[in-house]
Amino acid sequence: MHQQLETLYAEALAELDAITDSQAVRAWEHKYLGQKGAVTLILRGIGQIPKEERAAFGKRANEIKEALAEAHARRETLVQEQELARDLEENAVDVTLPGRATPTGGLHPSTQTLRQLYDIWAEMGFQVYRSRDVETDETNFSLLNIPPHHPARDMWDTFYTTTPGVILRTHTSPGQIHAMRDLGQNGTQPIRVILPGMCYRYEQVTARSEMQFHQLEGLAIGRNIRMSDLKGTISAFARRMYGANAAVRYRASYFPFTEPSMEVDVECFLCGGKGCRVCKYAGWIEIAGAGMVHPVVLQNGGYDPTEWSGFAFGMGPERMTMNKHDINDIRYFWQNDLRFLEQF
Ligand code: DAH
Repeated sequence: MHQQLETLYAEALAELDAITDSQAVRAWEHKYLGQKGAVTLILRGIGQIPKEERAAFGKRANEIKEALAEAHARRETLVQEQELARDLEENAVDVTLPGRATPTGGLHPSTQTLRQLYDIWAEMGFQVYRSRDVETDETNFSLLNIPPHHPARDMWDTFYTTTPGVILRTHTSPGQIHAMRDLGQNGTQPIRVILPGMCYRYEQVTARSEMQFHQLEGLAIGRNIRMSDLKGTISAFARRMYGANAAVRYRASYFPFTEPSMEVDVECFLCGGKGCRVCKYAGWIEIAGAGMVHPVVLQNGGYDPTEWSGFAFGMGPERMTMNKHDINDIRYFWQNDLRFLEQF
């Protein structure tokens, strides 16, 4: 019995010394010191020892039990320290490394231009009025003085839907009708709005033409609005947009919904009128179509054209953006190529 106890002691110590992980430390404790552990069982069986030897045996067994408990505690601490050290080394974190940059989005160049336009026109008293992209043939054309089969319809190649009479708007001008009917209170109230939005045309997509693009329409209705108001307003806009010295010129043109109609050019902001690639050596850049609202259109909006008058204009934010940044292909705008978009 004595010999058995000493052998167990030696074995237990040797086993403990070889242990390098805390799971094995726990298993060792269970094996020797647990409720059914080898040392525990020996102590429990002390009754079988002859009476005269019992005290000495019990004393030695308790010594061994305590020694093993101490050795266990030391081993446990050691193994835990080693494990921590290993963990720190294997899973080392270099806290001096810079963080990973989170890519942030930016505003689309067209959105940037549109917001600049909103700011300028807001400063001049024009509120944003939004109308829908899906329009009726009637509002997009007829009410704008372009009756069915009128040759002027050829100015806009139209996307039709499967619903007769429902189309994608080819320009923002139908918004004029909506604004007049909606805000005019049966032709009794003046109006000063801009109407931004996406337009759609059934066109061959090329470097110079897209099948979708923005327009920014303007509309002012009042009792005594004259062409000088239109010219003054456009000039004031050009100065805000292109600088205090921006020169503007007007060319006679034709639109069914305005009379008279004109096209507006601004002196090239790049070459100052000398001629360069951006203005195609013309010295001038077209920035808008404009005119005095046609009496028929006023009437369709609910206004009496003998008492009320107004001016309207339409500009192209993509064209403006292209001129500003010398972009030579409109197809970049909706291609979602980050190499393009990230430049703005
Ligand atoms: N709607 C015309 C177009 O898409 C642009 C335009 C011209 C709008 C003259 C106007 C205007 O309001 O007065 O080509």
